Formats: sequence, C-alpha cells, structure tokens
Amino acid sequence: MKHFLILPLLAFVLFSCSKRTAILDPILNPVNGILRDLPLQSPKSTLKDMPFKVGASVSAELLRSNPEYRALVMKEFSSLTAENAMKFWALHPEENTYNWKDADEIVDFAKANGKRMHGHTLNWFEVPGWVTNFSGDTTAWENLMRTHIQTVVTHFKGRVSSWDVVNEAIDENGGYRNNIWLQKLGISYIDKAFQYAHEADPNALLFYNDYGHDYSPIKRTAILNLVNGLKERGVPINGIGLQFHTRYNQPDADITSAITSAAATGLLVHISELDMTVNPNSDKNLTYTATLAEQQAAKYKFIVKTYYAIPKAQQFGITTWNVTDGDSWIPGTYNRPDWPLPFDANYKRKPAYQGILDGVK
Ligand code: G3I
Repeated sequence: MKHFLILPLLAFVLFSCSKRTAILDPILNPVNGILRDLPLQSPKSTLKDMPFKVGASVSAELLRSNPEYRALVMKEFSSLTAENAMKFWALHPEENTYNWKDADEIVDFAKANGKRMHGHTLNWFEVPGWVTNFSGDTTAWENLMRTHIQTVVTHFKGRVSSWDVVNEAIDENGGYRNNIWLQKLGISYIDKAFQYAHEADPNALLFYNDYGHDYSPIKRTAILNLVNGLKERGVPINGIGLQFHTRYNQPDADITSAITSAAATGLLVHISELDMTVNPNSDKNLTYTATLAEQQAAKYKFIVKTYYAIPKAQQFGITTWNVTDGDSWIPGTYNRPDWPLPFDANYKRKPAYQGILDGVK
C-alpha cells in the first residue's frame, strides 16, 4: 500500500477507535463516580434473584428520609442488617433505658417487605458510658451481660431470625481482644454470650462475626480455632460471619482461603459486611476510572463465585456494608475518596453489580 495512504488510514482508525471508546465511556467511565445504569442479564433481574440471600446494612434515618435509598433497598435486597440501631450503645444507652425506635422501624420495614432480618450485634467492645463506668463483681457483670442480651433477643424474638452474638473478639495478633468483657469475665464471656442468646430464643441462628479472614492468616487461624472450640464445647453456635471489608486488589488466593476455611468448620457462612475499597492507599486525588471499576467488578465476581462453590446448605448469604457509595462508612472514616459498593452515589448499578450476578452464572 502506498505509504502516503497509510497515515490518513491510521488517523481514521485511531479517530474511530477513540470515538468508539468515547461512546462507551459514559457507561463505564464515571464522571465524579456517576455511572449510568448497566444493562443486566435481563431487565427484571435484581439481587433478590440470586441463589442465596443478598443483603445490606441499613440506616433507619435513611429508610425514613430518603425515597431513592428506600426504593433501592426494597427492590434489590432479601436480607437486612441494622448498621447501628441494634448495637449496645444504640439500644441500651442507660442502665434502665432501652431505645427500640430505630431498630423496630428497620425490623418492621424488613417484615413488611418480606426480607430476613439479621441482628448486629449483642456483644462487642463498643459499649455506652454507663457500662464502662459500671462497678461490680463477676456475678454483677454476668448479670449485666445476660440482662442486655436476653432483653434484646426477647424483644426481637420471632422478628430477628439470626444474630451476630459476639463481634470482633480476636485482635490483630490472633489473641483475645482486651475488651471490657474479657477484663471483667475472662474468655468465658464468649461462651456465656452464646448461651444467654440461645436461652432467650432457641430458634435464632447464632453467629460469631469478625474481620480479617481475607488478609490476615493470623486472625483467620485464631478465629477458626475460636469457633471450632465453641463447637467442641457444645456452645450453641450456628454460623461464622466474615465481614470482608476487602480491597479490589486482594489476591484471589487469600479470598479462597478465607471462604473455604470458614466452610470447613461446617457452620453457616455469612459474608456479613462486604465492601471493597478501590483506594486502599488513601490517595486524596484518586479518580474512579473505568479500569478501577472493572477490576472491582472482577473481584466482586470472584468473591461471589468462590462463595457459591461452598456447600449450598452453608450459604447463609452475602451482605454488603451499607447500600451505595454515597452512604458507605469508608470515605468518612478514612477521610478519602472511595467507591466500595455495587451501587454508586446516585443509586445506579455499577460494573460491580454485574460482577455479582456473573459470579453465579
Ligand atoms: O448517632 C450519633 C450522633 O447522635 C452523634 O452526634 C455522632 C457524633 O458523635 O455520633 C453518632 O453515632 C455515630 C454512629 O456511627 C451513627 O452515625 C458514631 O459516632 C459512629 O462511631 C458510628 O460509626 C459506626 C461504626 O460501626 C461504629 O459503631 C458506623 O456507622 C458503622 O458503619 C460501623 O460498622 C462496623 C460494624 O458495626 C462492625 N464491623 C466494622 C464496621 C465498620 O466499622
């Protein structure tokens, strides 16, 4: 071909490619994190069509005040967790005061819309001031813990079908976290918490919930030892919650180890607080590119595919922590731009959403 023709042809090819990319960009390339709604496998499919429950942690305030948030939660999720409303400090702010309003609103919303309600969390290191300042002997502390757990579980009995009974009892070094319960009751507080919950609602499914399975072999091993010990002692535990606050570039091998080792306990496995930072280094100037969105989608797909491969009877479900990038706890907590969830701040489905659907194809 005459060389003088090559340049114009090359220019034309480059132009048409860039034009085509530009046409694709508005779908995949976000502007300020805004992505257009993605074509789904079929127009009607939602996360409720997944072969296991897909849930989200929710805020009572946002359910009350934000119609788009409420509509998305109604449409997409088959299970709900209260992000904060069922925590000790939220439900039981003073020794003789219980505040049920927000939690009851979430439970009523779940029931009215045919969704499962998962309780979070009966025992954790986050406690209100009156507990921190409480003084008493071991029996008094056992009564404090029992009263809280059994009052709460009894209040929600028949409406909350499962509980994170103990949350984050293992520290970063694989030891028992030095929280107030360990200090006052020793390591037996964990067994006791499960027993108190079971006494109050024998039908509730009881979980141990923690983070780090996907990136810390030390924590993962310690958590597995803890839950296997509970089982061996006949403590009423039904499931293990893997929070999975993970990252878009977490190695697949780590994710596989986390999920398959949890399944090997024979317990129900709940990926209980899934979100996926695309800005693990807290780059204040990061932009959410199509490449990042696609890498995130691939990792969501891998997590779902790996989870879907464990025995069906152990698939309690996958719950994202928060609903959209706009209400995620991550940007505010780490003071950085981030886009960790399958829905963007405009309630639109992202490539990560399609990645979840593709994980069960
Ligand atoms: O509601 C009060 C408000 O009255 C007060 O003015 C304000 C300022 O102090 O605080 C508000 O409470 C905040 C609460 O969120 C509700 O917004 C607390 O300070 C704040 O610490 C709390 O953060 C929550 C955090 O857990 C600690 O409880 C996050 O929203 C929540 O997403 C996060 O979730 C945890 C899971 O429970 C356990 N696994 C890790 C996960 C992420 O940290």
